[in-house]
Amino acid sequence: MASDTVYRASTTAPVNIAVVKYWGKRDPKLNLPTNSSLSVTLSQADLRTLTTASCSASYPSSDGDSLLLNGEPSDVAGARTQACFRELRSRRAALEAANPSLPKLSAMPLRLVSENNFPTAAGLASSAAGFAAFVRAIANLYELPASPSELSLIARQGSGSACRSLFGGYVAWRMGDKADGSDSMADQVAEASHWPEMRALILVVSAAKKGVSSTSGMQQTVATSGLFQERITKVVPQNMDLMEKAIKEKDFAAFAEVTMRDSNSFHATCADTYPPIFYMNDVSRAAIRAVETINANVGRTVAAYTFDAGPNAVIYYLEQDTEAVVGTFYHVLGEIDGWKQASLKGLKPSMSLDGGVASILKSGVSRVIMTGVGEGPMKTDDFLVAEDGSPVKR
Ligand code: ADP
Ligand code: DP6
Repeated sequence: MASDTVYRASTTAPVNIAVVKYWGKRDPKLNLPTNSSLSVTLSQADLRTLTTASCSASYPSSDGDSLLLNGEPSDVAGARTQACFRELRSRRAALEAANPSLPKLSAMPLRLVSENNFPTAAGLASSAAGFAAFVRAIANLYELPASPSELSLIARQGSGSACRSLFGGYVAWRMGDKADGSDSMADQVAEASHWPEMRALILVVSAAKKGVSSTSGMQQTVATSGLFQERITKVVPQNMDLMEKAIKEKDFAAFAEVTMRDSNSFHATCADTYPPIFYMNDVSRAAIRAVETINANVGRTVAAYTFDAGPNAVIYYLEQDTEAVVGTFYHVLGEIDGWKQASLKGLKPSMSLDGGVASILKSGVSRVIMTGVGEGPMKTDDFLVAEDGSPVKR
């Protein structure tokens, strides 16, 4: 009779928002990018995935591997998810072959249960946190001696940007040049504690599912945009160098300029895609104007906008400039949800925005998220799978 022992491991994983964007695959099957990228990992106190991986010889093999995501069964048959299972299992199988006393976890069906504490597939990088947690949880379950960089190779195959969520702080994904992708992985440029004052104000413009997925959007850009060649050969390599330097020197003005230029460059290649792809909308553009007004009024660069494959604005700023940045947006958007009252205490009324910009923001921003740079995945004893293998109801 099969043993009914249920093996379990849980982890949390963070979201990351790129300041030099990944956009383009040179090998869609292995998920190898056309350019390196760099991101800031955001605090798990505000946005996080919690995933429990479990396996047991008592799980019916007819069930196969499964994932329950936010309480709903999620398809694991996709090539990307399968690649992650395969890579992790084969590493566990190698450990078991070298040490026959280890339980044969690699032969058991996997049951994963995961929860995002923020909207899934709404342009808030759930796939990054989700696949990072997926890979980290199974690696913990299998007790793999793999480093975060090695695990990033696996997470990359789930979703490119996920490879950067294996680390906290400031993280680069080096594109690599090997055909098998063995050098396309993430590393940490700086710990969160190196520059802990970095904050992010997210203006949630639309919590609905996005139009063109990043996976298909970037393929269309690679196939049809002429501007894209300039981006991957010149713009991004230069931005990567400038960004690493800005982070090492904690030079916010340089960090901000590269962040905004790189977001603009990425969205320009989207507009140059044929037919064009538009991720930003009028509300996004109003957020850009607001950031420009804030920087002009303060007389130095205190805020930087960036946009992924959707209209939400992520605005980076330093804690010491909370008054100018957060104060200005709060003045206009004070009615909506998400403001952290503790961080607003004592903020004096700030500068006012152009009436048109203010009214577009008011009508289009549904909530804000106030967060900042944070740590990488964390092991936890908070289990979403009970000792008997059933999903924990919460
Ligand atoms: P987003 O903008 O939130 O990253 P995407 O459409 O790019 O949206 O990715 C959403 C997909 O990522 C989901 O459909 C699911 O496949 C995967 N995903 C999200 N969260 C998780 C999770 N916690 N565990 C595993 N996969 C996840
Ligand atoms: C605009 O990582 O979602 O957010 O590898 O196809 O899953 P896949 O793409 P994904 O693309 C992210 C694109 C981006 C920029 C970035 O995060 O670097």
